[in-house]
Amino acid sequence: GRGALLVVGSANLDIAVTTQRLPGPGETVLGDSVVASPGGKGANQAVAAARLGADVIMIGAVGRDDRAEPALELLAAAGVDLTRVARLPEPTGTALIEVDANGENSIIVVSGANAAITPAMIDPAALAGAAVVLGQGEIPADTTLAAARAARDAGTRWVLNLAPVIDIDPEAVTLADPLVVNEHEGAGALALLSVEPPPADDHEALVAALLAAGVRSVALTLGGAGALLGARDGITRVAAPTVEVVDSTGAGDAFTGALAGALAGGADLVAAVRHAVRVGAFAVTRPGTQLSYPSADDPLP
Ligand code: RIB
Ligand code: NA
Repeated sequence: GRGALLVVGSANLDIAVTTQRLPGPGETVLGDSVVASPGGKGANQAVAAARLGADVIMIGAVGRDDRAEPALELLAAAGVDLTRVARLPEPTGTALIEVDANGENSIIVVSGANAAITPAMIDPAALAGAAVVLGQGEIPADTTLAAARAARDAGTRWVLNLAPVIDIDPEAVTLADPLVVNEHEGAGALALLSVEPPPADDHEALVAALLAAGVRSVALTLGGAGALLGARDGITRVAAPTVEVVDSTGAGDAFTGALAGALAGGADLVAAVRHAVRVGAFAVTRPGTQLSYPSADDPLP
């Protein structure tokens, strides 16, 4: 049914530098620009969904430092309910992001307050009005597992973006409807389920193996090649529009947030994935993470 999207996840301040080419170990390169902007996979997904019109509640944590307000700025602007985002003594989560001339990135996340998000912070009142609960891999695994189980107990849809892959109880993975992963994360999810991965380029086999291992449904993101949706009734390939890639940072979050928001709004899974692929394509054409996400009135590619 329709309802709110409850995101249980991370919020960071992203410090992003652009450079022609990423440095190797021990190497110094000169960069072109440095920009601080709000990020974190949980917050990015919450903003993506809210900007597109979803009713979004976030459970998370920031510090009491000067990075907290900038980390929450676009969540607040998008109308996300932040009453359950705690202010903790730990520093606000921070991500150091490097983006090269091809739009490829590498990221180091220092979790800070995100690592102190506990299962006790999952407020039953927030769950009561939710149609979808969404988690990722940037907060403690026991909290994400508790969110999955709380969703199961409430009969609420659970969506898991296993990014990054963390050592989590397999139940959090099998309950996911869908599990949202890229190829590497999909292989990591199979490892959590104690299943041998299929050959690296066989995307259908990867989705089929996840379904066979008990995952309710799977959205496998394939970058410019779109996505594969696997559900009980089969595997559907969703092509992506061709766009010029400026910055792919957080494009997976745009996809996941749009997908979960559409599901909370009552869309079926195929329609939600088709929409999400276009939102992800929009996001890669602009620099930054949350700053690059579309509003409901932006034309999608
Ligand atoms: O997925 C992109 C995000 O990963 C960035 O916003 C950064 O904060 C890291 O969490
Ligand atoms: Na972008």
